[in-house]
Amino acid sequence: MKPAFVFGTRPEIIKLSPVVRAFIELGVEPLLIHTGQHYDYEMSKIFLEELELPKIDHHLEVGSGSQAEQTGKAMIKIERVLMDERPDVTLVQGDTNTVLAGALASVKLKIPVAHVEAGLRSFDRTMPEEINRILADHASEVLFPPTEEARRNLEREGITENVYVVGNTIVDAVLQNSGIAEKKSDVLKRFNLKPKEYLLITVHRAENTDRRENLERLVEILEDLPMKAIYPMHPRTRNRLKKFGLLERVERIESLIVTKPLGYLDFLKLEKNAFAIMTDSGGIQEEAIILNVPCLTLRYNTERPETVKAGGNILVGLEKERALNYLRRLIDDEEFYRKMANAPNPFGDGKAGDRIAQILLELYRRGNLKVRSSRFI
Ligand code: UD1
Ligand code: UDP
Repeated sequence: MKPAFVFGTRPEIIKLSPVVRAFIELGVEPLLIHTGQHYDYEMSKIFLEELELPKIDHHLEVGSGSQAEQTGKAMIKIERVLMDERPDVTLVQGDTNTVLAGALASVKLKIPVAHVEAGLRSFDRTMPEEINRILADHASEVLFPPTEEARRNLEREGITENVYVVGNTIVDAVLQNSGIAEKKSDVLKRFNLKPKEYLLITVHRAENTDRRENLERLVEILEDLPMKAIYPMHPRTRNRLKKFGLLERVERIESLIVTKPLGYLDFLKLEKNAFAIMTDSGGIQEEAIILNVPCLTLRYNTERPETVKAGGNILVGLEKERALNYLRRLIDDEEFYRKMANAPNPFGDGKAGDRIAQILLELYRRGNLKVRSSRFI
């Protein structure tokens, strides 16, 4: 069997690494195709190194661009590779432009698509990711929703065949790497941070960064944080802050450490030891609940509602008073802190990668890994 992995951004590398590993353990050699959507060392290569992935077979160097430019370029280049390589299945993960490009290019060549982390919905069609998720799910032959809730979203859209709830591969990644991070990373020492005495912050969503007005609301929250904080800044946000003349204001905040994006081992260690996390990232909302760290999400909706229902995550949007009130409550109210920190992990047992590889291999052996003319037969 020849499975092809198409990925291009930081979270895809992290979340697909357990699946790549699982195939290798089963004696199957995966084909790795990197679109180059993320290209800075600290957004891509550092993860390939730290997670010890095999050599990339095809670097497509698509880079940045408008939505259509980036997706279109990726599609054209992915199609060429898939035509040459003719894999038995194309795996994509999540909701980026790389995922949409990989899914569309593949299904039209009649190479079945397997979507890892299928069925997530924010129910906000103004997000580029929501469009990518919906279209990728409908182009896919085999779907791996992480939770029952994600499976129900697929069912509501008529997708019920070849759907396997396997858990989220982020749990695998966290379990496989947090022990190593604890031993290898000296990030707390480097930034002079003490466990449970700092906040960890990340922001990169288009809806938070593309308009000056929204970014300024974020800056106002950062200026009034009640605790020391560290903020590994996504290049998108750095560029926008610069463009809107807000970067210096952020860099002037005395209790805030601003760094470039960090590698996975440093970042995991920072997450695990944080007092609380404020983020608009999808993967970080998941990691927070896995690592028992309270999370305040700087968004008005989430495609990870399981974290909110479990009690480990609160949506605060860019509402300064709401965000600061919850932070103060976490500081002052031990019982409230304990409840948020101890919310149960809804994302499974850390064996999602193994399940995905085994299911695909079994479908392949039975001759059932192909694009069918209808889902409903
Ligand atoms: C993308 C995904 C988002 C995901 C995020 C993970 C889409 C539509 N968005 O957002 O869902 O959560 O990746 O981090 O696919 N840039 C660099 N260096 C890099 C990469 C990007 O400087 O290595 C800058 C460029 O100015 C670029 C901007 O960041 O224009 C945005 O990059 P892009 O890949 O378009 O989207 P992300 O915001 O990274
Ligand atoms: N991450 C990292 N270093 C950082 C910031 C994030 O290693 O400086 C990891 C984080 O642990 C998580 C993933 O990147 O696994 C999340 O990626 P991101 O927030 O860019 O994307 P999203 O999950 O929102 O798509």
